[in-house]
Amino acid sequence: MQALILAGGKGTRLRPLTVYTPKPIVPVCNRPFLLCQIDTLRRAGITNITLSLSYQPLKIEQQLGDGSDFGVRLSYTVEPQPMGTAGAYKFAEDLIREPTVVFNGDIVTDLDLEAVLREHDRRKAAATIVLAPVENPSAYGLVETDGDGRVLRFLEKPKADEIKVNTINAGTYVLDPRVLDYIPAGENYSFEYGLFPDLLLREEAFYAHVPTDTYWIDIGTPARYLQVHRDLLAGRVRGIETGRRLGDFDSATAAEIDDLSMIANGCVIKPGAQIVNSVLGEGCHVEEKAYVENSVLWPHTRVGTGASISGAIIGRGCHVGRSAQVGAGSVLGDKTSLTDYTQTGGAL
Ligand code: GDD
Ligand code: MG
Repeated sequence: MQALILAGGKGTRLRPLTVYTPKPIVPVCNRPFLLCQIDTLRRAGITNITLSLSYQPLKIEQQLGDGSDFGVRLSYTVEPQPMGTAGAYKFAEDLIREPTVVFNGDIVTDLDLEAVLREHDRRKAAATIVLAPVENPSAYGLVETDGDGRVLRFLEKPKADEIKVNTINAGTYVLDPRVLDYIPAGENYSFEYGLFPDLLLREEAFYAHVPTDTYWIDIGTPARYLQVHRDLLAGRVRGIETGRRLGDFDSATAAEIDDLSMIANGCVIKPGAQIVNSVLGEGCHVEEKAYVENSVLWPHTRVGTGASISGAIIGRGCHVGRSAQVGAGSVLGDKTSLTDYTQTGGAL
C-alpha cells in the first residue's frame, strides 16, 4: 500500500501566512503540518509516500527530505503548472502500482485508516471516499450515499438549496489503479468535478466510509488553523504528535504560562508577561507585562512591553510594538512590524 499527498495548492485562503510558507509546511503546534499526515500514514503501516507538489516545492523538499527522519520514504512529483487534484494523481502515474491512499494535503484527522483499507478491500471498490459530518457543507464536497455505503451523488461546493445531508468529502480516498484510465493525461482535471461524477456515470464500485468518533478538520482558513491549535492543545485529537509542550526557554519566575500553552526552544518570556492557551514558535521574545491569549506566534516574533495579542496569528519574525493591541481575527504576514500603540482587529 502506498500514499499520495496532494500538496500543490497555493493556500490562497491562508494568505498572508502562505506567501513565504506553502500550506503543507505551515507550523501546526510547532511542527510542519504535513507531519500530522505522515504520522497517520505511518501508524497504518504505509511508509511509501509521494508528495504531489506545485507551489514552492523546494521549500517543502528542504524541510522533509527523503523522509528518513520521520520513519517513511518520501518521493516527490512537481507539476510544471497545477494539474488539479485528479490531474496530480495522474501525473504521478509512473509511481503508482497498487491501491493508493490519497490525502488532501490540508486536513488533520485521527482517522483509523486501517479500517478504511479493510472496507475498501472487502468491497473490491474502485474508489472509497472517507466522509465527515459538518454543520455547513457549502465549502466542501457534498456526498450522498445509500444504506450500503454506495455513493449516489457527489456535489462540490453545493448551493444552500442543494444540501440535503451533512456528510462531506473528508479529502481522504483509497483508489484502485484502474481509475487512472478514467483520468485524461496532460490536462487539468479534478476528482471533485471530474473523476467522482464520472465514476457515478460509469456505475463503478464507488463507496463511502463513514468513521465514527473521529476528529477531522481542514486547516485551510485562518479560523480553522487557529481551531486546530485549540483542539490539539486541549488534547481533543488522538494520535497526532505535537512539538514539545515546553522547550528550553527563559522565563522570568514572575511570568505566567498556563498549562495549555506550548513554548518552543529559545523563547524569552519577561516578568509580568502572561501566555494563555497559545503556541509560541522558536526564539520568540515576549516583553514585560505583555499578554498573549488564544494565539499562534511563528518563530522569532517579538511582542513589546504591555502589548496584547488575542485570537490572532502572527507570522515569522514580526515585531509587535509596545502597548499595541492585536485583536481577534488578526493575521499578520511574516516580518510585519506594528508601531507602538497600534490597534488591529477586535471591536473598537
Ligand atoms: N498537486 C496538486 N495540484 N495539489 C493540488 C492542486 C493541484 O493542482 N489543487 C489543489 N491541490 C491540493 C491542495 O494543496 C489541497 O491540499 C487539496 O489539493 C485540496 O484543495 P483545496 O483547495 O484545499 O480544496 P478545498 O478545501 O476547497 O476542497 C477540497 O477539500 C474538501 C475537504 O477539505 C475538496 O476535495 C472537497 O470536496 C473536500 O470536501
Ligand atoms: Mg482545503
